[in-house]
Parts: sequence; structure tokens; C-alpha cells
Amino acid sequence: MDKLIIRSRIRDFSVEFVDGFSFVDELLDIKNYIVIVGQTTYKHYKNIIFSHFPKDRLIIIKLNEQRKTLNTVMKIYKKLLGLSAKKNLTMISFGGGINQDVTGFVASTLYRGINWVYVPTTLLAMADSAIGLKTSLNHESYKNVLGTFYPPSKIFICADFLKTLKKIDYMSGVGEIIKFMLMRKDPIKNLDGTIKKIEKLKLNNDKKFVINIIKESIEIKKSYMEGDEFDLGRRNLLNYGHELGHALEATSNFKVPHGIGVIIGIIFANLVSVQRGWIDEKINEKINKFLLLPNIKTVKLKSEYFDFKALLEKIKKDKKRISDKLPLVLPRSDFELIKITDLDFNEFKKTLQKLIQVIK
Ligand SMILES: NC(=O)c1ccc[n+]([C@@H]2O[C@H](COP(=O)([O-])OP(=O)(O)OC[C@H]3O[C@@H](n4cnc5c(N)ncnc54)[C@H](O)[C@@H]3O)[C@@H](O)[C@H]2O)c1
Ligand SMILES: [Zn+2]
Repeated sequence: MDKLIIRSRIRDFSVEFVDGFSFVDELLDIKNYIVIVGQTTYKHYKNIIFSHFPKDRLIIIKLNEQRKTLNTVMKIYKKLLGLSAKKNLTMISFGGGINQDVTGFVASTLYRGINWVYVPTTLLAMADSAIGLKTSLNHESYKNVLGTFYPPSKIFICADFLKTLKKIDYMSGVGEIIKFMLMRKDPIKNLDGTIKKIEKLKLNNDKKFVINIIKESIEIKKSYMEGDEFDLGRRNLLNYGHELGHALEATSNFKVPHGIGVIIGIIFANLVSVQRGWIDEKINEKINKFLLLPNIKTVKLKSEYFDFKALLEKIKKDKKRISDKLPLVLPRSDFELIKITDLDFNEFKKTLQKLIQVIK
């Protein structure tokens, strides 16, 4: 077993990399626990995992992006308030980023915070969201606008869960991992290596290899969070690709999953950089051709998702927007990222038209 400690001002927590499902025995030893799992994950692992938990310790909920809301949180509160365990309750959640966001919000607010163990079951959650410290809820058509900072006390990462993921959900995780690879040191020098790595990652046939990439992604994310866990400065750069990505998730009514939206958002941001003369056009074409474009093929992209007015409206609602112009994380020479806040609507429109040509 392999372990990593993540330091946080709220509390330090451990990430354990485990092989197979025997870690569940450790969970069964916890006093006063309750397990919360989404329907899909429950169905896949009913016999291997969830049949080991007594029925009265198991809450199965229906989760999707439309249900990542206070409403779902309140339903869970209701169930948990009825239990005899109170502040001494440990919540164990199994699921992807949506489960993490919802159950993490519950854990952080119920009795002003209860103990929480999280088992990510998607690639995106393992490589990215699990260690993010954040919990986020959608409200009406606003994405991730409610939330708290609250890490689990323990995370178990088990790549065996990845075998049952749908291709589109796996590719969404690959999308966030590509983002991290572009945020590492010297991404252009390492571009050929990254292209090969991502090709192998997509095959999902070598558990050890996948775990190593997950570890690498976590290390890169950690390096951006250090010293800025509350998202006031450098951590903002992790938002690379997310401005347009979040908007696309919304205009497609979440048909474009998070990590695919991020990839399209990165293509968009890089195009702005090319236009501003900050990155080389040839290098950008190579990144698009071999790294980014192959990753969006799993989703059918409809032209209505790219409607200028609809996207603009969603971006304007983004919680990270602080002025009249739009913010965007962009690569400069050597692919060093910076956050700009001066993207005007004309530049946005012009780049959107280019983007549509590039992804066609
Ligand atoms: N809090 C954070 O720091 C943070 C960071 C990044 C993303 N997010 C959020 O995470 C969400 C995306 O997370 P995600 O990609 O994990 O999506 P998800 O949680 O929706 O899971 C994707 C799909 O896979 C299913 N699933 C989960 N595990 C499975 C398994 N092992 N086998 C088969 N099916 C399985 C789910 O039921 C769902 O249908 C977004 O809402 C995003 O905003 C949060
Ligand atoms: Zn993300």
C-alpha cells in the first residue's frame, strides 16, 4: 500500500492507493458510519462491495449534474438527522466528483462538520477532485456557486473501479489529466512524451500505469494549491480551460461532461494566446492535433452548444468573473500560465468562430 499526506490548513489528510477491494474491511471497522453511494456505482459494485454493509447503514441516491443541488443535500440531511449517531457519525462516500461535491457539502455542514471518508470511483475524481478540498453545488443554472472548503479525513484510491466506467466518463477524466500535463514544468519540451502517455492512458489496460499518472496529476495539482488552498492566487490557474468549459457544460445541458468541456476550453484559451502572439501557432496546432482534439471525439458536439449569446451569458454568470471584461487563464511563452481579466466580447466572438473551425 502506498500513502500520500496532503497538508491543509483545515486538516491534513491521507490518500491511500490500494489494490483490490480489501480496504472495505477497514471501513467496516469504523464505529457509527453511514455509506452514501449513487445508484450507478451501487449497481456495479452491489455484490463485491455494498452487500458487506448492513442495509440500515447504506443510503443509495440518484445523482447527476441537475441533482448536485441543495435539494439533494436536504434529503440527505433528513436521513442523517434521523440516525442516533450525531457529531460522532462518519460518512463514507463512494462515487465520482458529483457524489464528492454533494456528500462533502453535507459532511462539512451537518453538526458544523462530521468525519468523512471518500472513495473516488471515477478517473476524474481520483486524479483531480478528491484532493481539491472543495465542495460545490449548482444553483438554478449557476454551476458550482455554493460550497465550502472541507477535505475528507481519508481518501482511498483504487483503480479497480475504473473498469466499469463508461468510455465518455473515462475520457472526461483523461481531459483533466491532459490539463495537468500542460501545467507541469516544461510542458512543450515534454510534449512528445505526454502525447505517448495519454495514448496509453486511454487504453485503460495497465492498472499500474494508470495509478502512476493519477499520482503525477495529484502532485501537479498539489504544487498549485500549496500556499493558496483557498483559491486567492496561484490556485486560480487550475481553472485553465474551465471558463469556457463550465459554460459548455451548461449550454449542452451537461451532455458535454466536465473534463471534455475543459479540453475544449483549453483549445479556446490557447487560440487567444496564439492571436495575442504569446504562443507559437505551429506548436499549438501540434498540441491540438495529437493531444486535445483526439480527446473530444467521444462526444457529439452540436452547433447550438456553441451559440455566442448563450455561452456569453453563462460565462458572465461565472462566479470567478470580477469585471466587465472576461477572465481567462492563458499560456504565455514557454507555456507559463497567467490569468488575464481583459478578454473583451469581440475577442471572445472572434476566437469562438476560430474554435468552431478547429474542432469541426
Ligand atoms: N470539488 C472539486 O474540487 C471538483 C473538482 C473537479 C470537478 N468537480 C466536479 O466533479 C463533477 C464531475 O465528476 P465525475 O467526472 O467524477 O462525474 P460523475 O460523478 O458524474 O460520474 C460520472 C458518471 O460515472 C458514474 N460512475 C461513477 N463511478 C463509476 C464506476 N466506478 N463505474 C461505472 N460508473 C461510475 C456516475 O454514476 C456518473 O454517471 C463535476 O460536477 C465537477 O464540477 C469537482
Ligand atoms: Zn475541473
